[in-house]
Amino acid sequence: MPFVYISGIIMELKSNSDWVNRINEEPNLNNIFYKNTINGHCDYGIFLALNDIVKMLPSVGTMFEIGTMFGRSTVFLAELFRLHNKSYTIYSIDLFSEPNISKDFFDIAKSNCEKYKEINLIRCDLFEANTHIELKDKKFTCVLECSNHDLKATTFCLNTWLPLLEDNGIYCGHDWIKFFPEIEQIIIPLVGNKVINKKYSKQQLIWWLNGINAQ
Ligand SMILES: C[S@@+](CC[C@H](N)C(=O)[O-])C[C@H]1O[C@@H](n2cnc3c(N)ncnc32)[C@H](O)[C@@H]1O
Repeated sequence: MPFVYISGIIMELKSNSDWVNRINEEPNLNNIFYKNTINGHCDYGIFLALNDIVKMLPSVGTMFEIGTMFGRSTVFLAELFRLHNKSYTIYSIDLFSEPNISKDFFDIAKSNCEKYKEINLIRCDLFEANTHIELKDKKFTCVLECSNHDLKATTFCLNTWLPLLEDNGIYCGHDWIKFFPEIEQIIIPLVGNKVINKKYSKQQLIWWLNGINAQ
């Protein structure tokens, strides 16, 4: 697949220079990144992408993350909001019991996030369960889709959480194209002709929708 291969190389070159420039421009990012020793999937590329999203957001708001796992990205978000002097309440949900991780990991995530009073962890019992009772009257300034990125998870998350986004809020995710090509197929029919923003980071493509609920 030459197109995918060439795109991958271009992405890699762009991302490497982006990475070096960013460390020089924002030296505090390194302190935040290396201080976080929580296991997880949030690598430097995703972390930089989260930094970009946080910078785009208004100074006060409510953040909602889908897919806490052990809290790695959740703690990054809390640190990035603090770095950029933004006051955010963070809600992060997960099933906290994936079949390939034998033990329930709610307590691990809770302990990893406990020093951040702005973080609220919420358990959803089953994949399809209507678990957002606690959240249903809330509106979010930003929703980060950090779940499993497959067809089922992404469709479920978009249908469930997009309506709870503030009119000018940002709905975002990562891992598009390189690992999970079907994400584009799901998003386009849902957003119609609205612009889907994309940006490459190290081996990552972050995507986001702004003002998707504003007409
Ligand atoms: C890629 S991991 C999250 C990684 C984490 N954000 C990090 O920084 O390490 C995906 C997580 O999403 C959770 N998950 C999958 N589908 C979900 C759904 N529909 N709602 C909530 N959590 C979900 C899984 O249990 C898993 O812990």
